[in-house]
Amino acid sequence: MNPDHGPLIYEGKAKRIFGSQKLEQVFIEFKNDATAFNALKHSELEGKGRLNCQISSCLFELLESEGVRTHYLGIANDTWMVAKRVQVIPLEVVLRNVATGSLCRETPIQPGTELEPALLDFYYKDDGLGDPLLTEARLKILGLVTPDQLLQIEQLARRVNELLTSFFEKVDLLLVDFKLEIGVNDAGELLLADEISPDTCRIWDKRSIDSNKRILDKDRFRKDLGGVVEAYEEILKRVQGATSNPRFYK
Ligand code: TMP
Repeated sequence: MNPDHGPLIYEGKAKRIFGSQKLEQVFIEFKNDATAFNALKHSELEGKGRLNCQISSCLFELLESEGVRTHYLGIANDTWMVAKRVQVIPLEVVLRNVATGSLCRETPIQPGTELEPALLDFYYKDDGLGDPLLTEARLKILGLVTPDQLLQIEQLARRVNELLTSFFEKVDLLLVDFKLEIGVNDAGELLLADEISPDTCRIWDKRSIDSNKRILDKDRFRKDLGGVVEAYEEILKRVQGATSNPRFYK
């Protein structure tokens, strides 16, 4: 049963955000829709919404327990999360530990190159413009964040990378790269927002050396490798094996 949510505030490709009777909260519904290449490719994957909601919840709790401030409050049921209401900054903050994806399509950097320190890329979140890569100078002109917020975002992204990389390593998963979104609350504080799931991370199985079989994230969908939901299930299984069940929020 759906939670007792308020009106629809925003519908994205993979989630719907609804209001709540409590002004400072929102309900987030994780959809089964899978999209890639700016939604040129679209499919419904039964079970994906539940898997991403549960994986995200476990990972937000893990990060919170390490002192990272997030929008997460708890889960309402299998596919619904309760979160603090924030204004999401239209930036995609991408951290890359291993070169792949757009980095290798757009530069001669060889796939598999280890990036140490991790490469931090900012993209402007705008479907109409195709989420363009930003330089720091362009970011400044856009004025989306203050220089101090930019520093905070970089520190936050690197801290999240450290925590998630070492957590995943314990369950034989390699965090290749991931995308974060940052929200601002009424007090002007930055909170980690959106989701952290195989839709927004690249995660490889360290138990496999096969370059296709090891992929346990949305690249299975992007590259038509099949077994998308099964891969997400494997991630949830390993994450759940190393964390406690996400809390219910009322
Ligand atoms: P990229 O290599 O395609 O730029 O992707 C980098 C990371 O960001 C990867 O983990 C997938 C994630 N990502 C999103 O979450 N949303 C997007 O729209 C894109 C393009 C990438």
